Amino acid sequence: MDNPFKGRSLTVIDDFSLDERLYLFEKTRELKKAITENNLDELEKFRINNSDFGIYEVFIEDSTRTKESFKNAAAFHRVKLNTLETNYSSINKSESFADTFNTLCGYDNLIYIVRSQQEGLCRWLEENGKLYAQRNKMKQAPAFINAGDGKHEHPTQELLDEFTFLEQKNWDRESIHIALVGDLYHGRTVHSKADGLLIFKKVKVDLIAPPELGMPEYYLNKMKDNGFEIRIFDSIDSYIDNNDIAQLWYFTRPQLERMGDAILKRQDELRYRITFRKELMDKIPERTTFYHPLPRHKLHPTIPTFLDATPLNGWENQSANGKLIRIILLGLIAGTIGHDFTGIAKKTTEEPETHDYIQEVPVDENKTVKEYAEGVKPISSGLVIDHICRGEKEEDIRDHLARMIRVLALYGKGGEWISRSREYPDKMKGIIFRPEYSAPGIKKLKQIAALAPGCTVNVIREKKVVKKLKLNMPPKIYNFPNICCKNTDCISHSSQGENVPAEFKRITDDRFKCKYCENTHSFKEIWI
Ligand code: CP
Repeated sequence: MDNPFKGRSLTVIDDFSLDERLYLFEKTRELKKAITENNLDELEKFRINNSDFGIYEVFIEDSTRTKESFKNAAAFHRVKLNTLETNYSSINKSESFADTFNTLCGYDNLIYIVRSQQEGLCRWLEENGKLYAQRNKMKQAPAFINAGDGKHEHPTQELLDEFTFLEQKNWDRESIHIALVGDLYHGRTVHSKADGLLIFKKVKVDLIAPPELGMPEYYLNKMKDNGFEIRIFDSIDSYIDNNDIAQLWYFTRPQLERMGDAILKRQDELRYRITFRKELMDKIPERTTFYHPLPRHKLHPTIPTFLDATPLNGWENQSANGKLIRIILLGLIAGTIGHDFTGIAKKTTEEPETHDYIQEVPVDENKTVKEYAEGVKPISSGLVIDHICRGEKEEDIRDHLARMIRVLALYGKGGEWISRSREYPDKMKGIIFRPEYSAPGIKKLKQIAALAPGCTVNVIREKKVVKKLKLNMPPKIYNFPNICCKNTDCISHSSQGENVPAEFKRITDDRFKCKYCENTHSFKEIWI
């Protein structure tokens, strides 16, 4: 049987289905038991055991736990582990990430473990790696493991966190009540929890952070959409005052240095609100356990060190679990483990594109054109794009008409103006007339739909509308030089200089998710 894990990338936690994660946890549990019992025969079953199998660590941001646990996991597997010395690499000579990783792929390495500031980097590397493998006739495309990308996600931390919570709950997946405390804005480990906690059937999350460090809207909405019960508190003190306190607390490190002078002036106050104190010990429920992805600040630890030697200390076992989870993850991606998986695997191929957002409207070919007679001269043959930005402000419609002409290269003879909608007289709309233009092909129609959802495209011949199409919002917006993710940390942002083409997926009528960093934008925000 094929191994569904072999060669897979893990760029966000949702790249593995729930069944795949449960399988990974089961294997980690078996591994932990074999280690505890020193069962050497059993341990052999988990190893890749191939000194030619190449794994590369590329850490462009500092790390102890993630980097070293992967290094120890690779040692367990007896494979070839290389580390790119990023401080002395040609990344510092403005080499692109694509060129850097293509070079390493040429040295027969199959798994890359990557930490960087650039959000969505592994998604981009995965795409780029597939193209490299095709060009170079490699048997297998390289796999990329996201070891933390900016304030986006930290999926392998999420795996070890979930495993640790399951252990603490004696493998009961019915429900979890967890408090997430600290810098929820920058903390990528808590962002991964928006999908990660779905491993539990009923999820109650208490978010404890001053508003300045609150959970970003995208992840908050994701948690709500995933059916989590959410409560929000601005400090540990206000949380302690409520009578329903979680037994599981997950702290994250404040990253106040990223937030400018105004916040830095208030750092003591903000830190105080998310730091546990001795006098609170009597107010938390019995058998409470604290977790932390670590590191904690030696001068300002939000979990004070006096708690190290108390039963609240769950973070040391959590950290140690990191190596075990990563042993199994490497074994799965290498294809050594996973043949007996019988659950539902994550779909790794995209659904084929459909064009149902382009609808043909019946036309009466006997009727001559009257409705486009508002211009200098009625159009007798050509193209009319009507109902552009209907209902928007006149200045916005005019701006967008100029953008459409530029992006679609609708230069030459013709005109465009703003008119009152006949159907909705209180609304304005934009119209573009292009005499002598021929009927647009599918590629052009897709572009017009992306630029002017809701518009109609009329093909006119001899004063008659011979074809009329209503274009709705397409599910994806891509393949335009004039779109850009607004997140400057996103790998596709122009300031990164990586030439990664922006791509957006529609998630609601007016929200579009960046393919790489997953930040959401309104329709207007994605256009330059
Ligand atoms: N938890 C975690 O990512 O720690 P490091 O930054 O030390 O890798």
